[in-house]
Amino acid sequence: MKADTFVQNAWYVAGMSQEFKVNDLRGMVITKKPIVIWRGKDGKVVAFDDRCVHKRMPLSCGKILDNGAVECAYHGFAYDTSGKCVSIPSQMDLAIPSRAKLKPYPVVEQDGVVWLWMGSEEQMSRVHPPRTPEFVDPQYESFTCDPIDVPCNYRLLIENLLDITHFYPLHDGNIGDLANSKIPIEFIEQEIDGNPSMKTVRHVENYRHPPFLRDWFGYEMVDREHTHCMVSPGITRVQLRCAPPGKLGTSEERGYILHHSHTPVDERRHFWRWTATVRKGQPSLDPKKSTLDRMKEMFPAVVDQDRWALERQQKMFEFPEDGYDEVHLRSDRSILTVRKILEKLETA
Ligand code: FES
Ligand SMILES: [Fe+2]
Repeated sequence: MKADTFVQNAWYVAGMSQEFKVNDLRGMVITKKPIVIWRGKDGKVVAFDDRCVHKRMPLSCGKILDNGAVECAYHGFAYDTSGKCVSIPSQMDLAIPSRAKLKPYPVVEQDGVVWLWMGSEEQMSRVHPPRTPEFVDPQYESFTCDPIDVPCNYRLLIENLLDITHFYPLHDGNIGDLANSKIPIEFIEQEIDGNPSMKTVRHVENYRHPPFLRDWFGYEMVDREHTHCMVSPGITRVQLRCAPPGKLGTSEERGYILHHSHTPVDERRHFWRWTATVRKGQPSLDPKKSTLDRMKEMFPAVVDQDRWALERQQKMFEFPEDGYDEVHLRSDRSILTVRKILEKLETA
């Protein structure tokens, strides 16, 4: 297993729509590429190479002028929202060189998410950014955490999310227990919007919910369906449906959808955002709070445990292999499939 690569030809989440305010310049690095990104006055998000064509000053350190152009903080080159240089203050008497334009990055804003294409132009039409319709469905309410800076290869997070057996012991006593780790798994490979994906389904009956889940849904004994799906290199979707025994599919069913986006900064760092989406007003154990209220309060503790493990796992990749040989469980089939998918996409 390699933990020092990433898929270049992919759509990655630059942020949620609400993170991009009009004329608010932001700098970020995705797949080792420096990016300046902002929402123009017309509401459209645009993204370019963050290096000013003059002397590489990050444009994200500049400002937006009244005419909507970005002014570099160093010598004042200004660029419009097509990336073209429209002003060079120190030599207004000369024509602006035609080469003075920024490299654009394709942006798609859909379902409340801003996606960037980080690959080659020829490959772009092959795949579409995955849909996340629940984010904008009025029947649902959502919460997205602040971006989490994780010092590990993004693949370790994807594997963590598809790895069912870490609920014990890593999450023992909150969202997990040993019984959860033993639930049989169904593996489904499918293509979603041109993205080869891997999904696991785990169905269990008469299962005693661990404390956090009992709190979030107000049910102790449940029938439950839990799915985990790496939809694309940029996002993984988790869905949980539960109800008192025999009641799945009835009005008593409750659940959540959790999207996790994983955006590589470089080989050893990524940004993680999780979005919890729940039917509006779905009750929790606490009569004054909804499921979403309780998830907002409690889920960060679970995420901290994962982050704690991921960080340590990454450090062990720094040592020479020296005969090290990973042992796989039956449940690791999903992870091994994901590795194949990502490796194939890396060389596509
Ligand atoms: S570096 Fe941007 S104007 Fe000189
Ligand atoms: Fe976890």
